[in-house]
Amino acid sequence: NTHIVIMAGGGGTRFWPASRNIFPKQFLKLVDDTTMLRNTLQRVFPLVEPENIWILTNHLYKDIVIGEAREIPQKNVIVEPLRRDTAAAVMLAASIVKAENPKANMFVMPADHVITPQEKFHDELILANEYLVEHDSLFTFGIAPTYPSPQFGYIKVDAKDTKVTSVRKFVEKPTIDVAKEYLQQGKYFWNSGIFAWKVSTIVDKFARFLPQHYQGIETLSESWNGDNWQQNLEKVFSSLPSISIDYGIMEKEQDVFMLQASFSWNDVGSWEALESLHPGENSVVGEHIGIDTKNCVIYSGKQLVATIGVEDLVVAATEDAILVVPKNQTSKIKKLVSLLKEQG
Ligand code: GDD
Ligand code: MG
Repeated sequence: NTHIVIMAGGGGTRFWPASRNIFPKQFLKLVDDTTMLRNTLQRVFPLVEPENIWILTNHLYKDIVIGEAREIPQKNVIVEPLRRDTAAAVMLAASIVKAENPKANMFVMPADHVITPQEKFHDELILANEYLVEHDSLFTFGIAPTYPSPQFGYIKVDAKDTKVTSVRKFVEKPTIDVAKEYLQQGKYFWNSGIFAWKVSTIVDKFARFLPQHYQGIETLSESWNGDNWQQNLEKVFSSLPSISIDYGIMEKEQDVFMLQASFSWNDVGSWEALESLHPGENSVVGEHIGIDTKNCVIYSGKQLVATIGVEDLVVAATEDAILVVPKNQTSKIKKLVSLLKEQG
């Protein structure tokens, strides 16, 4: 009765040169020898049968995903012909799951986060699942914020000291100044990007807040897995606006509950995020040798990275590109990637 939907279709530039349009973060091995997607799958295998796990991804990543997810039926890897952001992907998953079981509960989660320990994660998903029996609300998992960041959604709650509490408002990616205010006020949590709801509930919300998504995708469910499926999907997707579930539904809906997550959570949003995952004099993924090297983040895909007398740098080396940037300037990577695109 419970289905888990993993969102694995995003792009992203913050891990350039390791991540590329054809090889984004969810397929990188940033924590251990396993990709982020594979780690995500292993985290949910103990919870539901493989038939109830779905992965939504872009056509660019179809083969990588199938390779990483051999345990789940191939039909459960749903391939989006075009990038239309997470709202379209969630509606697509909901309509397919609903066609299988109109009474199903559905969890949605990103494919590129680090969550520990597994047991706490499992306990809390089980708790949320129990709440869904009696509630037709949307549930999200909140994380106690540790610094102001404009990269997250913020959840304002009524009570900070209860495990599950109703949400006052949901604000997706505020400016840094607003984020600072929220942290001072203390009544806010980060949105983890993990959601829970009945499929019937979320489909109703789409009908209300994103009717174009609802109408377009509902008509598809009849042809699910049939001969014209990919063709029909492409037609519908190309007609849809690109919007995330956070802007499209979560910010608009009033009836939302938040579960305060007790697991530790890291969205690994930048090269510096590797510091907390690999603590030490330097944070190293791959092979590195150094003399007088301190507080650096080093990533090496294939070759050895050697450094002498440097501090506070990110050095990321892949087969065909090397990035060297002071740790406090990694936000400029985005600009660098656009520059690269411009120059072809
Ligand atoms: N299938 C599919 N299709 N997946 C997608 C698409 C798409 O078009 N776009 C993004 N995704 C996947 C990403 O791969 C990731 O696993 C997840 O959906 C979330 O998308 P991001 O693009 O990474 O979102 P974000 O990090 O900017 O913001 C979201 O996550 C934050 C926490 O990390 C929001 O939910 C924020 O509110 C939240 O705080
Ligand atoms: Mg993200």
